[in-house]
Amino acid sequence: MLRAADQRFGLGLSFSEALIGGAAIDAHGVPLPEVTLSAAREADSILLGAVGGPRWDGIERSLRPERGLLAIRAALGLFANLRPAILYPQLAAASALKPEVVSGLDILIVRELTGGIYFGEPRGIRTRPDGEREGFNTDVYSESEIRRIGRVAFEAARKRGKRLCSVDKANVLEVTVLWREIMESLAPSYPDVELSHMYVDNAAMQLVRAPRQFDVVVTGNLFGDILSDAAAMLTGSIGMLPSASLDEHGKGLYEPVHGSAPDIAGQGKANPLAAILSAAMLLRYSGSMGEAAAAIESAVGKVLDSGLRTGDIHTAGTRLADTTTMGEAVCAALA
Ligand code: IPM
Ligand code: MG
Repeated sequence: MLRAADQRFGLGLSFSEALIGGAAIDAHGVPLPEVTLSAAREADSILLGAVGGPRWDGIERSLRPERGLLAIRAALGLFANLRPAILYPQLAAASALKPEVVSGLDILIVRELTGGIYFGEPRGIRTRPDGEREGFNTDVYSESEIRRIGRVAFEAARKRGKRLCSVDKANVLEVTVLWREIMESLAPSYPDVELSHMYVDNAAMQLVRAPRQFDVVVTGNLFGDILSDAAAMLTGSIGMLPSASLDEHGKGLYEPVHGSAPDIAGQGKANPLAAILSAAMLLRYSGSMGEAAAAIESAVGKVLDSGLRTGDIHTAGTRLADTTTMGEAVCAALA
């Protein structure tokens, strides 16, 4: 896709490839080899494929494919995860919700990605004096971590519908009491943005009840992981959702929100659109190549207009296509 965009717009892109996750474990014995990390550091931006599979499920926890993903996020300081959930009008029938509830849906979830319970210490599984084992994790956010993700979210809201909903569990968790306080403290600097707060359980309910009430949602690592999967289903399929993970300077890693879908691996059934739309986000956010990004997005729209669908978004009256056909169709629509 990026090569097709490069050709059409003369972007002057150059590419290098490196392994992460399961493939890296097979080749180098670790999920994030040093060569991969240094290639990622050298690149202006990174397009990432999904990382896991049952083949590596038995491996020791610290060496599992997911660790590679978490490690590259942490090593590159990619704290701001942007997950847009946009309903293409052509896919209204593929959504798990009624078309009248989701039509026009355009939500941006801003998920904090390098802190919270995902990275908090202490963590582990230990044996108590009475011999019973217990698992434990730590949900921790510093003021500065909350402030920097809050700023990203306010800035994003400012460029869109100017409404920001901060999602927390401040009725139970102290870490999110502080989260709410810091979000409030930022609000006066963004008088054009309307800030609201919602508990995460209610947010999950509101997402499936009346999702269009949301413009930008900002939340911590774990809640963002869960809510972005729920939001995905509103758009018809998680196979439609791209994401960007940005550092302080706008350098980014771009990946589909979906995982490796091992149950359909190698069968040509996967929806390539989330990966293609991730490439579009890469051009827009890290390359300042907005024109090329918009052209890719509109090529995706044209292919959906033509009635082509992978299995996950296939509904009555549309034509079933495999992964390659779908990808080639988008490239052709771009050219
Ligand atoms: C995601 C994924 C990852 C996460 C997993 C694979 C570690 O679910 O990117 O949403 O939990 O962040
Ligand atoms: Mg997830």
